[in-house]
Amino acid sequence: MANFPQRRMRRLRRNPAIRELLSETRLSRHDLVQPLFACDGEGIDRPVEALAGQSHHSTDRIGERALSVKEAGISAVILFGIPDRKDATGSSSLDPEGVVPRAIRAVRESVPEMIVIADVCLCEFTDHGHCGVLQEQSPGEFKVDNDATLEALSRQSTILADAGCDIVAPSAMADGQVQAIRVALDAAGHEEVMILSYAAKYASAYYGPFREAVKSAPAGGDRLGYQMDPRNAREALQEVALDIDEGADIVMIKPALPYLDIIARVHDTFEVPVAAYHVSGEWAQIQAAAEQGLIDGDQVYLESLQAIRRAGASIIVTYGAEQAARMLGSC
Ligand code: PBG
Ligand code: ZN
Repeated sequence: MANFPQRRMRRLRRNPAIRELLSETRLSRHDLVQPLFACDGEGIDRPVEALAGQSHHSTDRIGERALSVKEAGISAVILFGIPDRKDATGSSSLDPEGVVPRAIRAVRESVPEMIVIADVCLCEFTDHGHCGVLQEQSPGEFKVDNDATLEALSRQSTILADAGCDIVAPSAMADGQVQAIRVALDAAGHEEVMILSYAAKYASAYYGPFREAVKSAPAGGDRLGYQMDPRNAREALQEVALDIDEGADIVMIKPALPYLDIIARVHDTFEVPVAAYHVSGEWAQIQAAAEQGLIDGDQVYLESLQAIRRAGASIIVTYGAEQAARMLGSC
């Protein structure tokens, strides 16, 4: 009896069928959300240099891209807008004929069953690249005006819901944004539209390629005044609790791999669905290393997604969703 348990572990790994039977988590194409970039103009499918495999699509072309995403087996996309016109208040984000509302309608039309998520923020629309409306504190000193930002995010959300999105995803990290958006959506008759909040969004250097892709790098200063400090974990639980209180239906942690501990703690602490954003820098690292022949890119990528799933995220936003779906097959 003394050595009874000694061979137990390899018994559990004897063949592929047994390993499948005993797998604790499963990664499925149904968990994945494909980001899509919508730009102004016509006839554009322009590869994004900073983000391998990603493209900007004009709104007359994005429907076709959505169709290919659907055919790969992905059922949800998240839309980001790249407007031609940027100004201090991000006014093009409040245009019902703006780039994102048009993209939502185009995706809806070409794939009616697609779950359409729309990112809600100002940084893609402002010339200064900050996630909110700036207020001059003292000469030359600016800070994000929280209340003015809430007003803009609420109006933007209503416009996106009017255009037909299923889920709005506020990513500005403004205090009270979830509640302000919920109130605005309900008042406009959009009770069925969900809120996926970027609840724990860290001030991360992993967003570099995305900011290149949408030209949203802050023109001055940084985002440390509103995004989270990478050294903090308990504060993330506070952010999540506040957002759930304010009416978030799904909470997201971002980035993913460097913050698996946060994903796990949020999953263990709260009952709402947990999403994770495997961000541009995480994706770019894998692509760059694979290109140099240092790693097997596909395998490292799938292992990354499995780790995020294992930590407790049931939804993963990731640039390789379409490719991963093709690798994962039909289950
Ligand atoms: C905008 C936004 C960002 C990302 C998603 N929405 C960037 C930022 O805060 O600069 C990052 C996505 C990525 O890096 O893949 N609020
Ligand atoms: Zn932003």
